[in-house]
Amino acid sequence: MRKIKVSAPGKLMLLGEHAVVWGRPCLVTAVDRRLKISLEKLKEKFLEIEAPSVGIKSYRKNLSQLGKNNPPKKTRFVEMAVKNFADKYSLNFGIKIKTEDGPPLNYGLGSSAAITVAVLKGLTELSNQNLAKKKLFDLAYKTVLDVQGVGSGFDVAAAIYGGTIYFKTGGRKIEKAVNFDLPLVVGWSGIKADTPTLVRKVAREREKHPQIVGKIFDEIEGLVEEGRKALLKKDWQTLGELMNINQKLLENLGVSTPKLAKLIYASRQAGALGAKLSGAGGGDCMIALVDEKGRKDVEEAIENARGKVIKAKIGVERVRID
Ligand code: MEV
Repeated sequence: MRKIKVSAPGKLMLLGEHAVVWGRPCLVTAVDRRLKISLEKLKEKFLEIEAPSVGIKSYRKNLSQLGKNNPPKKTRFVEMAVKNFADKYSLNFGIKIKTEDGPPLNYGLGSSAAITVAVLKGLTELSNQNLAKKKLFDLAYKTVLDVQGVGSGFDVAAAIYGGTIYFKTGGRKIEKAVNFDLPLVVGWSGIKADTPTLVRKVAREREKHPQIVGKIFDEIEGLVEEGRKALLKKDWQTLGELMNINQKLLENLGVSTPKLAKLIYASRQAGALGAKLSGAGGGDCMIALVDEKGRKDVEEAIENARGKVIKAKIGVERVRID
């Protein structure tokens, strides 16, 4: 039976996290930590999953049962993606999905969105559907919401569109910003964060202080708009300043942590043009904008502050059949 390989990039938030959950725009970039899977058609109408890296040796479920009986956490995105595809376009074959080896994405680089997109892209290929990017986005975003309940969809868009994009909540706007590599250093804090928990924490803040939090979101929106222009001109100085301001606003929202702050301040002291957390906060990654001469100093400063530098090309190609 026919077998294909698909890979989807991870993501890093440049500017605008959290505010983008609440109707504002953000700038997100695709990173070259690609999630790789293979998909093979089966005669019997079953979904089989093999993901040894997360301890799943052989998961098997009848297609008619997908989404039922509380699927295990580790198979949920894949299972819901297959279910949503089958519900919308129908599947007249079974499917075996296997994760392939590659550099890990589990640093908060968007592995859930990447696997969702990779599965849906693979299914469109195997069933000879030619889905427009926005249609693929809508199905992938629905899947993410079905599984985790909250989210703007920015990570899904990064995997589907690639490069660096300007994105508004739920895909109301998805526009190419730029298509070149960005001079970023990525540092992992060593702490795994749970995005839905942090999104709900900000939601509670917003409920308690609607005016203040609304103003913070407005300011973030303003700096995303300025950041987009700076990015186009490769005005790294301005972009760095905007990242620093964004970090302050995220601290005001209560999502930064002492460990993230330590890595951020260490990289600024070592000469970064700007630095901020990237993503939901609470742990995961920070990013620092550097000029290439200063890259090594910033990387060393992050390692000395007990962060882990994650090497990855930034602003890369979208999901693809390999
Ligand atoms: C998480 O990486 C970024 C958030 O804005 C959530 C989202 O946009 O889905 C906090």
